[in-house]
Amino acid sequence: MKIPNHIAFIMDGNGRWAKKRGLPRTVGHKKGVEALEKVVNACIDKGVKVVSVYAFSTENWNRPKLEIDALFGMITEFTRTKLKDYTVRGIKVVFMGDTTKLPQECQNSIKTIIEKTKNNNTLTFNICLNYSGRQEILYAVNNLLSSGKQSVTEQELKQAMFSKDLPDPDIIVRSSGEMRLSNFMLYECAYSEFIFVDDLWPDFDSKTVDKILDIYQNRDRRFGAISED
Ligand code: FPP
Repeated sequence: MKIPNHIAFIMDGNGRWAKKRGLPRTVGHKKGVEALEKVVNACIDKGVKVVSVYAFSTENWNRPKLEIDALFGMITEFTRTKLKDYTVRGIKVVFMGDTTKLPQECQNSIKTIIEKTKNNNTLTFNICLNYSGRQEILYAVNNLLSSGKQSVTEQELKQAMFSKDLPDPDIIVRSSGEMRLSNFMLYECAYSEFIFVDDLWPDFDSKTVDKILDIYQNRDRRFGAISED
């Protein structure tokens, strides 16, 4: 079985999951956090080395303040409560995006979990917060320009990206049947396999991960070359 090194998830459908049940959207996000835990655990069991999740995009600031506050509350709580467990299980937590704009207590819990898990190597869990692909590319270009560069190599550009220490995603999964990238990993997705799953994000679990891996087995990745068979 081909096991992907890196799977990136666009977690979509929390709001619809809640609406279908007549519940507030924030309950959908809460269920979304539970689904996230199941997915991370299943990926560890399968031997995946990096899991990325799109948890808050630069465009998500346009949502109602109540929903934004609830999301950052959940992220803060998650980073606090998982710290011990992740340290024991060798999970390294990293973040992509401009975290300096997040609520202070969220920034504090993020700093702590990064620091305490930095030497772990079972799985890298990359949480994208206040992130967008275009913003990441701009950030890299502006940093390179301010360092005085006139032109750059592909390697130098990669080194200036938030994702500099991560392999490109082998698979980008989006839940809820939507088929778009929504400004996620625009540079890193050059050779990613796209898998669109109809299930809403809160319904994801280890069986969904099995299904994704099954689909991946039938993808012929050629990276611009020709097939060997
Ligand atoms: C998209 O569904 C989901 C989000 C914008 C937020 C996802 C965040 C979480 C699951 C919490 C993350 C927590 C941690 C710990 C990383 P939507 O609200 O757009 O759903 P809809 O399209 O059905 O309305």
